[in-house]
Amino acid sequence: MAKIVTNALDLWYGSFQALKDVNASFDEHKITAIIGPSGCGKSTLLRVFNRMNDLIEGVRTSGEVYLDAENILQPHADLVVLRKKVGMVFQRPNPFPLSIYENIVFGQRIHADRLTRAKLDDIVQESLASVLLWDELKDKLRIPALRLSLEQKQRLCIARLIAVKPDILLMDEPCSTLDPQATQRIEELMRELKHNYTIIIVTHNMQQAARVSDDTGFMLLGELIEFGKTQDIFTAPKDKRTEDYITGRYG
Ligand SMILES: Nc1ncnc2c1ncn2[C@@H]1O[C@H](COP(=O)(O)OP(=O)(O)O)[C@@H](O)[C@H]1O
Ligand SMILES: [Mg+2]
Repeated sequence: MAKIVTNALDLWYGSFQALKDVNASFDEHKITAIIGPSGCGKSTLLRVFNRMNDLIEGVRTSGEVYLDAENILQPHADLVVLRKKVGMVFQRPNPFPLSIYENIVFGQRIHADRLTRAKLDDIVQESLASVLLWDELKDKLRIPALRLSLEQKQRLCIARLIAVKPDILLMDEPCSTLDPQATQRIEELMRELKHNYTIIIVTHNMQQAARVSDDTGFMLLGELIEFGKTQDIFTAPKDKRTEDYITGRYG
């Protein structure tokens, strides 16, 4: 089932066109990887899905992006609701300079009505458990999050999103600062999470895309060149440019 569908999506930064006629469909409870060389528009595409590009001066989009059949590019789309529904994990884990506990409940304090302490405790436990950090951190909830390892910080950032119950997790090169073992464990976590979320991951690591995703889109210079089942993209690409990229002929 498609969770997000883009239709004739174009995006300009001023006069520079960064996305060109992107048509794609992202399935619910699957992991879709977006691959392609640096500067091809991967992060730009991801930021369309929670309207984060709106924060950049001079950005213009055209076309449609349906999330659950609602066009989120409409001027009157509710961005607070959208950004709660569509969470983003960044390249560098960016916990707030607060305790582990306060990081997790931060969104609750913004989005939800006043919750009881017991309810907040539950949310913290559930969210940390879902990223497999609960056992490790349950006795350290009051220590500053900035003291955690990089991997723990990235897990915490995922837990912080999960705490506000999004539908979609956007991940922009979420493992690029992690070592291979931590990367592998985050990939395992993604496979767990996809049962409950729709995940879209940007990566320039093709092995990662091949390992973790169900579907893959290959982008080049703002265009979505090819989109399909990951296995097909990596074993039988239809476009010569995709083949050149996955066989390592581009930078
Ligand atoms: N804020 C911005 N203003 C102007 N151009 C931008 C901005 N962000 C990205 N771009 C340009 O848009 C293109 C796509 O960038 P990006 O989406 O970051 O690519 P990727 O994530 O694939 O590396 C690049 O040419 C980049 O220079
Ligand atoms: Mg990028």
